[in-house]
Amino acid sequence: MILIDGKKVAEEIKLELKSEVDVLRTAGKKIPHLAAILVGENPASMAYVNNKVKSCADAGFVSTLIKKEGNISEEELLKVVEELNQNPDIDGFIVQLPLPKHIDELTVTMAIDPAKDVDGFHPVNFGKMAQGLPCFLPATPYGITLLLKYYNIDTVGKNVVVVGRSHIVGTPMSILLSRKGADATVTLTHSRTKNLEEIISQADIVIAAIGIPHFIKADMVKEGAVVIDVGINRVEDDTAIKKYKLVGDVDFENVAPKCSYITPVPGGVGPMTVVSLMKNTYLAALNKNAR
Ligand code: GUN
Repeated sequence: MILIDGKKVAEEIKLELKSEVDVLRTAGKKIPHLAAILVGENPASMAYVNNKVKSCADAGFVSTLIKKEGNISEEELLKVVEELNQNPDIDGFIVQLPLPKHIDELTVTMAIDPAKDVDGFHPVNFGKMAQGLPCFLPATPYGITLLLKYYNIDTVGKNVVVVGRSHIVGTPMSILLSRKGADATVTLTHSRTKNLEEIISQADIVIAAIGIPHFIKADMVKEGAVVIDVGINRVEDDTAIKKYKLVGDVDFENVAPKCSYITPVPGGVGPMTVVSLMKNTYLAALNKNAR
């Protein structure tokens, strides 16, 4: 079993980005600038956004964090989005999800200028992705494809089972892996899927993105399978200082011995999401520099 070290791969990519940013700086060109809007005080979202800001600093990017109260109206939030759309200094920005219930996530996503949508969530980018056109790829699925490439894990003709159909991970992942180049045969499964365990047990590659701690058990997974765990679930742990620990969607301890490759949680997919977002932001800045 080979443990996929997302932290290490992400650090390498961050260093590459840093040297590319140094080149831009030396040439007097625009330094990539990512902005993030954080609404409310969801602890997980705060942690993710802080991570994104810190990673930007590590790679020499400029970043701006815009914090808004959880009771901000949708209208006010749309104004903030529009300001960032118009601000020529911001190359790309994200609105951290989930948003409070009174705000419609799709309305906010649709308000983002697709040229600055470094999360790749706007339907224009999503549609381009589906057609294999140049676009910003959604960060988590993009990061997973980078990990698979780094470890030379072949996807051509492989039987991939994606568990979970979210707009952020499962659905775009299934599209990316079935596109030309990746050429996998993908089954996208969800809460209404029949015979889920049987389908997972036939997978060469399992991508678990359902948000249920330890959902994927050892008896569901084929011997020698590749298992990619996207879950970041907080479960109570009285022995931990923070009183919780992070666990994935995979029962790692029991599944890992059966796998050819597996990602840990934390330190697997999570760090790759952040660097993918940065790669998109770098691309957005390059596009501006080219104009
Ligand atoms: N919430 C969970 N994952 C993501 C992500 O990749 N981008 C944003 N904006 N919110 C998220």
